[in-house]
Amino acid sequence: MISEGTGNPVHLGRVLISRDEIETRVRELAREISTDYAGRTPVFISLLKGGFIFLADLVRHLTIPHEIDFITVRSYGSGFERSERIEIVNDMARGVAGRDVIVIDGIVDTGHTLSVLEELLLGRKVRSLRVCALLDKPSCREITVPVHYVGFRVPDVFVVGYGLDFMERYRNLSHIAELVPVARGEAAAAAAAPAESVEPETGEAGKRAAPARPGSAAGEGAGRRTRRET
Ligand code: IMP
Ligand code: MG
Repeated sequence: MISEGTGNPVHLGRVLISRDEIETRVRELAREISTDYAGRTPVFISLLKGGFIFLADLVRHLTIPHEIDFITVRSYGSGFERSERIEIVNDMARGVAGRDVIVIDGIVDTGHTLSVLEELLLGRKVRSLRVCALLDKPSCREITVPVHYVGFRVPDVFVVGYGLDFMERYRNLSHIAELVPVARGEAAAAAAAPAESVEPETGEAGKRAAPARPGSAAGEGAGRRTRRET
């Protein structure tokens, strides 16, 4: 369990997407992108920090020439709160005018972050722009943003792992797990307990998210309504 002064004690819940499922899907996405962009040299822009592991794995399966760059975006809020205030903290190293750009994002939730980024990149006169997100929470969308390549659709639960964090924790998990707010009574008991465990509870046969192939909306409706960290 972690709380770290946030008043938001949490613990890891069920595994939503396993390491193997992610690996298979990332290979599929890389194959699809390699086919779509045959004969071109796209620039993959990873949205930091959540997209860093996804980018690293994806590019290793690409069969086309490409370049990579990074952009760091910060939105305000902490714990599970949502925020619409988005700021570019660290810009890309190189210009993208006239380039085919693919934004690599860990998760699309409300869509506000991508919408700001889309405006920024279109303003820089890119030749084309697509978004590739490992995870999509379509039920949380507040603003329409086209997401061309989606790894998995997930329900409206807060997830961590494979680059995604809760207060900078859990990015290093090889799978995607649900993060569960601890109930009040439980929190007091856990505070008295010894060491924190960051291992997911893999034993539970929880409902899994599924690859976002046409017609698939697996995982929808499985989650409680939670707020996200921004
Ligand atoms: P959006 O602007 O609401 O689409 O939020 C996108 C950003 O919020 C992502 O890039 C993540 O940093 C963060 N985020 C949204 N949902 C989650 C989640 O379930 N786990 C971890 N981070 C999340
Ligand atoms: Mg975060």
